[in-house]
Amino acid sequence: MLKKMYDWVDERVDITPMWRDIADHEVPEHVNPAHHFSAFVYCFGGLTFFITVIQILSGMFLTMYYVPDIVNAWESVRYLQNEVAYGQIVRGMHHWGASLVIVMMFLHTLRVFFQGAYKKPRELNWVVGVSIFGVMLGLGFTGYLLPWDIKAYFATQVGLEIAAGLPYIGDFVYTLLNGGDIVGAQTLARFFAIHVFFLPGALLALMGAHFILIRKQGISGPL
Ligand code: HEM
Repeated sequence: MLKKMYDWVDERVDITPMWRDIADHEVPEHVNPAHHFSAFVYCFGGLTFFITVIQILSGMFLTMYYVPDIVNAWESVRYLQNEVAYGQIVRGMHHWGASLVIVMMFLHTLRVFFQGAYKKPRELNWVVGVSIFGVMLGLGFTGYLLPWDIKAYFATQVGLEIAAGLPYIGDFVYTLLNGGDIVGAQTLARFFAIHVFFLPGALLALMGAHFILIRKQGISGPL
């Protein structure tokens, strides 16, 4: 049945070469930890991607219960955490994954940096990477406010004031993110939109560019 469906689609749009191109791509020996144990450092990028997928999936489930307004946000998170079946697990994955993905991304960046893998011809992918880094930090910052508890509230206030201290653009960035003079209803609405739509959209586009460049240029090395 599945084979028939596959053949039906393949006959019309010739999909076999598309996935064969990925499936038959040989991984060079110097990045294979089975050959040289030290090659495990090449896994950090893939692990970052893996946790990113977990973040996206768990986040999608969280939005089924989360209510992005200041009256209901905290209670909706409490309900999800304590009453919803598996809610604690899904929230826990998103919570711990948020830190782990930053750690992994940092290790990946260190690998790329210390091996000089950012040098010609991969400068552009380094720039894409730095943009991804910023987007990831932005996801962490905006997500932190969403439970709308005391810690989130004051941490966001501090973060926004740091942003306001930026030379020249500080006031603009503060108003853009906050939407007003104090952290309040409009801040939560903006942070929710940024956390759930703007930054994930940017992240997907940037990761797509990152992978296309890796595929085109091949992996660097051996050292
Ligand atoms: C969501 C975050 C990221 C993901 C999922 C990701 C994924 C990957 C993967 C799978 C590779 C293949 C080799 C490897 O795994 O080491 C790679 C290579 C690379 N990444 Fe990332 N990356 C991310 C963030 C970054 C950041 C923050 C930087 C730098 C600031 C960066 C710069 C590079 C460069 C320059 C390469 C090419 C390295 C080479 O050819 O040796 N990436 N990335």
